Amino acid sequence: MPNRSKVTILAIETSADETSAAVLLGDKKTGKFKLLSNLIYSQIKIHQKTGGIVPEVAARAHIPKIIPVVKLALRQAKTRLGEINCLAVTTGPGLVTSLMVGVDTAKALAFALNKPIISINHLEGHLLSALGGQNLQLTTYNFPALGLVVSGGHTMLVLIKRIGEYKILGQTLDDAAGECFDKVAKILGLPYPGGPVLAKLARKGDPEAFVFPRPMINSNDYNFSFAGLKTHVLYFWQTFQKTNVIAALPRRYVGVARNDKNIKADIAACAEQAIIDVLVAKTINAAKKIKAKAILLGGGVSANLKLRKILAEAVKKNIPNSTFHIPDSDLTTDNAGMIAVAGYFHFINGHYATSEKIITNPNWELGSWR
Ligand code: KG4
Ligand code: ZN
Repeated sequence: MPNRSKVTILAIETSADETSAAVLLGDKKTGKFKLLSNLIYSQIKIHQKTGGIVPEVAARAHIPKIIPVVKLALRQAKTRLGEINCLAVTTGPGLVTSLMVGVDTAKALAFALNKPIISINHLEGHLLSALGGQNLQLTTYNFPALGLVVSGGHTMLVLIKRIGEYKILGQTLDDAAGECFDKVAKILGLPYPGGPVLAKLARKGDPEAFVFPRPMINSNDYNFSFAGLKTHVLYFWQTFQKTNVIAALPRRYVGVARNDKNIKADIAACAEQAIIDVLVAKTINAAKKIKAKAILLGGGVSANLKLRKILAEAVKKNIPNSTFHIPDSDLTTDNAGMIAVAGYFHFINGHYATSEKIITNPNWELGSWR
């Protein structure tokens, strides 16, 4: 007799430059679930040549990888395709042609298997990614919660009234936090992808070497802006290149010969610190305002160790009754595991459809129509 309370979900994510598939085993009765596999094929090597993602190139690169990645995810999960009860797929937001590869693969599988399929918002995946590794149960989870999603395309604070019910409290008005990491790295001539490389270099630098702006840190809202910081770093670096003189050079550096490597590390550390200070200040303000019982961090930038540490300390100090949740490292940057987690919550709430109802929605705003 098959156990009818069990559900096995196959999730697919291709919204940008990662081809990913994951298998989740959940229990509808207990609300418990476990990720059995979470396979990611990264296109980083391809995009290193251009120093960024070319959408058409990314979409084409998904095509030869999607079936092998799905097969490997199933094999690693020791699950046969016939055992899948439901598909979950990222339908937006993202690069339309990249999304279409994953969406059409998931639709074809759902059609052939005669199984339901769930349309998942990529940002909801990041928002709930912290729940994946810890396998938190819905019943033990406290609301309202606050989510900070920090990725290459988005930076937003989200009120989570309950899972599936979201309100964006604020978001970036220009560049996302990850984009700022990437652009500062590019200015300093660091290789793609800039964020993790800049973070690594920052460890060797002094975060107080220079005074960099913290845009909108005191604005009375939950919006962000990182374009000004990037421009500040650009002018700062260009001035140094031209004159070998650092604007606003702290007194202790005067007369000290500085080579490019040290200056780059200091700039990396100062830029990272400025981004983190803004993210942490806004998150604490928003958490106090909504009386958040839990804070969830997600998105590619949540891989940043300094952000994790400083935010954890700030939550403990300022809102000691709240819990703080971070994703496991393989659930930080784009992955299908987080899509499977979001899919599981929607599955138990009956939010699934047949394959012909599923469409790609590259501009899908979190919290709007699904
Ligand atoms: O979530 P993600 O994989 O893709 C989007 O949905 O955008 O996020 C990618 C972003 C990139 O900007 C990347 O540089 C940044 O996350 N990132 C980091 C780190 N690891 C990835 N930024 C800062 N520190 C890191 N360790
Ligand atoms: Zn993402």
